[in-house]
Amino acid sequence: MTCFLTYKNNLIYYRSEGRNRRMAKLVIFTVVVITIFSFGVSVDDKCSACNAVAEELESQLLKEKPRNHLDLRNRLNSKGQREGKVIDYRMSDLRVVDLLDGLCDRMQDYTLQKVESKNREWVKVESFDNLTNKQEAKAHANDISTYCGRLLEETEDELAEVIKNGSLKVGDARKVLCQTLSNHCSKSSETDSEDEDDDDADEL
Ligand SMILES: *[C@@H]1O[C@H](CO)[C@@H](O)[C@H](O)[C@H]1NC(C)=O
Ligand SMILES: *[C@@H]1O[C@H](CO)[C@@H](O)[C@H](O)[C@H]1NC(C)=O
Repeated sequence: MTCFLTYKNNLIYYRSEGRNRRMAKLVIFTVVVITIFSFGVSVDDKCSACNAVAEELESQLLKEKPRNHLDLRNRLNSKGQREGKVIDYRMSDLRVVDLLDGLCDRMQDYTLQKVESKNREWVKVESFDNLTNKQEAKAHANDISTYCGRLLEETEDELAEVIKNGSLKVGDARKVLCQTLSNHCSKSSETDSEDEDDDDADEL
């Protein structure tokens, strides 16, 4: 999935939202292809895995800086006037790409660890070197990365839509991604999804 970086660099040179849209599709398509080749792997508790992905998306939202509108008036018409339109970055496909590009790659930094005597949680690790079972920890990292690909595949159109229409706000990622769009966490507890979740409560 490191190839995402190349896509992103190329993207800087693209001036048209049409291309951004195709790029957004391509990013997701790549995720899907990688997912197909590694299917069979799964995470036990989709809700906690989804929450970890949402947390990573959330940190990406927090890092967002205001950006200029995209000026796509880069063509001249027959009268020599500039043609095309100006698009608010927040409503652009480019923003969708910026937020989702590399997301599942970064899930490779997560692993499942025992936090208290019995519960296991997805945690972000600085390095895998000092973990007692490095191989197992890496296997978990691959699992959640693959899960992330499937999650994006499942939710791609709506996720792009909520990003562009402004309903994905900081603080909302878990609810939007894991309850509204994917249903991987139950909707019963809107405010505290972690404590009272359905059938997989033992993992949380
Ligand atoms: C990992 O362990 C080594 C030696 O056991 C230590 O020198 C190093 O600081 C540790 N690194 C981290 C990130 O804890
Ligand atoms: C944004 O898009 C989502 C998904 O299509 C929709 O459910 C939601 O109502 C929209 N919100 C706004 C503010 O348009």
